[in-house]
Amino acid sequence: MDDDEKQREKHVTGATVWLTGLPSAGKTTIAYELAALLGADGHRTEVLDGDEIREFLSAGLGFSREDRHTNVQRIGFVAELLASNGVTALVPVIAPYADSREAVRKRHAAEGTAYVEVHVATPVDVCSVRDVKGLYAKQAAGEISGLTGVDDPYEEPASPDLRIESQNQTVQQSAAALHALLIEKGLA
Ligand SMILES: Nc1ncnc2c1ncn2[C@@H]1O[C@H](COP(=O)(O)OP(=O)(O)O)[C@@H](O)[C@H]1O
Ligand SMILES: [Mg+2]
Repeated sequence: MDDDEKQREKHVTGATVWLTGLPSAGKTTIAYELAALLGADGHRTEVLDGDEIREFLSAGLGFSREDRHTNVQRIGFVAELLASNGVTALVPVIAPYADSREAVRKRHAAEGTAYVEVHVATPVDVCSVRDVKGLYAKQAAGEISGLTGVDDPYEEPASPDLRIESQNQTVQQSAAALHALLIEKGLA
């Protein structure tokens, strides 16, 4: 393979990168930072953000266990389609249940599509101080219930490909660590 061919090949290697973690853990921020790094290298990327997806693809779904599972399966389906067509699909979505994430991973494996699981493992006490969308405050005030990590389950990934401790590093360091992993795996 000559250099031009290698370059073309690089640009068609797709993958799904799922960033799971609590609200305000840093999933969305890291996804967009990584998208900028990948874009600068000529990769096609798409960020499938949980909140945006819920407005369209998952409109009508709520936050019950069943609906959260359906939401994750739908997003996983779209991510796999993108990834199998050479796009790096970045998925900053809570995905609180291990079996939902496992089903997505298995679908990717069955299709021979690369799948990378990242646990953005910011502790709940840090997330609740960041409280980007005010959800922790609303839960504390009794205005909402079913908040992941507080009064709704979050099943931590047992063996993610990468665990990011965002409370101990900058956004740039977190994105760079993930970028380095993708390069190591031949996906960036
Ligand atoms: N290392 C880091 N990685 C990601 N976000 C961080 C980091 N350090 C601080 N933050 C801040 O934490 C917040 C995370 O918000 P967001 O990305 O919307 O979380 P999520 O998508 O997980 O709900 C942002 O305000 C971001 O600037
Ligand atoms: Mg987010």
